[in-house]
Amino acid sequence: MARSAVARVLVLHGPNLNLLGTREPSVYGRTTLAQLDREIQRHAASRGAEAVCRQSNHEGQLVDWIQGAARERFGAIVLNPGALTHYSLALRDAVSAVSVPVVEVHLSNIHGREEFRRHSVIAAVARGQIAGFGPASYLLAVDAALRSAAAGRQSRRPR
Ligand code: DQA
Repeated sequence: MARSAVARVLVLHGPNLNLLGTREPSVYGRTTLAQLDREIQRHAASRGAEAVCRQSNHEGQLVDWIQGAARERFGAIVLNPGALTHYSLALRDAVSAVSVPVVEVHLSNIHGREEFRRHSVIAAVARGQIAGFGPASYLLAVDAALRSAAAGRQSRRPR
């Protein structure tokens, strides 16, 4: 089978997620970003897909990657915006501007934490949100992303 855009998932980690493993382990666990990325890639491969993982502390870099996802032939995006979740309208606009489906993901259950974390400005424009399952959140999000990508491909098929 020719490699199609649908089988490629772009996984984006936002600010401070490079510190996973040592950052507030009681909240985010002890898994490092490198270990998490390997787990995500193995999981995607087990589904016959490919995951490409990137991290940035910079809002504009995340916007650029989201804007470029279709050009890079990604069928879906898994996005953990970190603290940008709660206030970045630039990131929200980028998500709503692209046709590539975006699944929002969080390690922690943001709805059970401080008040300021309970609102996501991204959620309304994302395909859906998965939060609270630690590293497994990402694996669930990859599955959701692959389903969204496949659904998008179906709906674009000529009848
Ligand atoms: C997070 C939750 C955010 O509130 C926080 O700012 C993060 C990580 C999570 O994965 O649980 O950086 O997105």
